[in-house]
Amino acid sequence: MLHIRVPLGARQLWPALRNVSVVTSQSQALWLAMALAISLPGAASAQLGARSAQEWLKTLDSSNRVAELKIDETLARLKIRPGDVSADSRAGSGLNSLPLAKAASPGGTAYAVDIEQGLLDHIARQARRAQVTNVQTVLGKFSDPNLPAANLDLAFINDVLHHIEHRQQYLKNLARYLKPSGRVALIDFYPELGPHRNQPDLQVSQEQAAAWMKACGFAPIEEFHLFKDKYFVVYSRVKAGAQ
Ligand SMILES: C[S@@+](CC[C@H](N)C(=O)[O-])C[C@H]1O[C@@H](n2cnc3c(N)ncnc32)[C@H](O)[C@@H]1O
Repeated sequence: MLHIRVPLGARQLWPALRNVSVVTSQSQALWLAMALAISLPGAASAQLGARSAQEWLKTLDSSNRVAELKIDETLARLKIRPGDVSADSRAGSGLNSLPLAKAASPGGTAYAVDIEQGLLDHIARQARRAQVTNVQTVLGKFSDPNLPAANLDLAFINDVLHHIEHRQQYLKNLARYLKPSGRVALIDFYPELGPHRNQPDLQVSQEQAAAWMKACGFAPIEEFHLFKDKYFVVYSRVKAGAQ
């Protein structure tokens, strides 16, 4: 018989231990070890290339990067209309969220979704400062944007997919929040040209993304050659009977 008392601190740190107070047998000790093995690497690897909110802000808001995002030109191609509801899916510092919200004014909303509360707090401050009232921050889960309603006209995913470990699952979950006529705009780096060209784990090719979107029932409807190092593709649902 083994008697292991799990300290409260450890239980708070690792959700897998929340319901464990005393382990009374070797087989229970084995289950505990397995739960730890599953929960710890999963938490660490669900965001690839993870950083703190402060580190993200420094990288994301650098003047070079902001210029390269071509935000106005990008949003102009998406033809967002007043009243539209969009999700800046993994919004970072909100560089795209505020323009998405402005483009949908009056009457529309832009959800700024991220998994870092520190980034969401930053976005809320920026929105208040700029007096943009139709940005709503949302704390997402690793593989689910966790939106309050399934009413999206547009899901915008810029420089994000390669950071997500379970990409297909993430896209599938995201698609559930779109209206039937909703679109997904996906921008990511060509593996051989982007900043992660020597990090295969941090690469998503246009073809891979297209295959995952197809598995979710989506097909490309537009492609824009706006960037030299990134693809920019817009998808919508394939209508029943088409194909
Ligand atoms: C390179 S930044 C891009 C931010 C923004 N889209 C932009 O273009 O400025 C990647 C963002 O994805 C978020 N992220 C990474 N992995 C994620 C995951 N699994 N689920 C949700 N967000 C994730 C990070 O917190 C970060 O804000």
